[in-house]
Amino acid sequence: MKNFEMHIRNIEEKEKNLLEILLLAQVKFGSLSSEVIEYLSNLTQIDIPEINDTIEFFNFLDRGENIKNIKICGGLSCSIKGGEDIYRTLQTTADEKNVKISLVKCMGKCAYSPNLTIDEISHTEVRLEDLKYLY
Ligand code: FES
Repeated sequence: MKNFEMHIRNIEEKEKNLLEILLLAQVKFGSLSSEVIEYLSNLTQIDIPEINDTIEFFNFLDRGENIKNIKICGGLSCSIKGGEDIYRTLQTTADEKNVKISLVKCMGKCAYSPNLTIDEISHTEVRLEDLKYLY
């Protein structure tokens, strides 16, 4: 661990070389889990959202199995029935919970709005207060 930390500390312009740092960390730890991301943030002084953006951009960077992929229906029916509030709420906790949030087109289940999927598992008639049980 000490060699890794020394190597990262010796890298100049860490933000410019973030991809290199992330690749080194992925090799060292096997994946870029939320714990690894927090550790790297402390080590490099780079904000967690910036690290997450970089990981999201390069699909060869692996977060491990901890990340959840949440898709929220952005169609009219779901938006009106609370989908927008759910989307905003999820966005505020995305980084700390290590989830990827995306707004998608109508999921074709408007009668059961609002709809979302978590790792491709469908959830219908979701209420804001249900979120704590879903992920
Ligand atoms: S608007 Fe959400 S399922 Fe159609």
